[in-house]
Amino acid sequence: MLLSFEGIDGSGKSTQARKLYEHIKGLGYPVSLYRDPGSTELAERIRELVLNFEMDPTTELLLFETARSSLVWERIFPDLKEGKIVILDRFIDSTTAYQGYGREINLGTVSVLNHIAIRGRKPDLTFLLNIPLELALQRIGQKKTRFENKEYLKRVRDAYLLIAHQERERFVLLDGTKEEEELFVEVLRFLRERFGLDL
Ligand code: TYD
Repeated sequence: MLLSFEGIDGSGKSTQARKLYEHIKGLGYPVSLYRDPGSTELAERIRELVLNFEMDPTTELLLFETARSSLVWERIFPDLKEGKIVILDRFIDSTTAYQGYGREINLGTVSVLNHIAIRGRKPDLTFLLNIPLELALQRIGQKKTRFENKEYLKRVRDAYLLIAHQERERFVLLDGTKEEEELFVEVLRFLRERFGLDL
């Protein structure tokens, strides 16, 4: 089973992804947690480049997709084959939101490249942590990267809501302003209800 967590920077998605990983592991199920971009040697190197160099949007898009392709092929597919639950901190929807809507790259192009990188294997469920822009900026504070100016993040935030609406059967929209524990209870409840998992 393939699960992804999405949201703008500061939304708390990484915290929820990690909590879920620890919880499932604690129950004794086979599970893995990966961050995208990253989690293979090659993808971690690409991550360094893409997060720290100034570059044009198309180069950026291709680097994110290359990192993802490596993650899918080297980690995700083998794990799924073994029957593991795979949890992803960001995946294809980040690229649609950040590069497609954020950098305004043609959405058809982004969609095709996403499809190639994941070989058509979309997540079974995607949790979107939605928070107001102001709260995100407050939480990010000084740690801003080149992906985090206000207008850009606003476009990305709006895009996520649109994407979630377009693929309603795959997305679970969560209110990221809620307490960490309360949110986690909701995550577990969705997984129990949707997949009958004993969590
Ligand atoms: P991440 O490490 O998840 O950052 P954070 O912990 O702040 O959420 O992701 C790094 C940045 O990369 C983040 O600002 C979003 C951006 N990104 C894209 O622009 N496109 C993508 O396809 C992905 C996966 C991430």
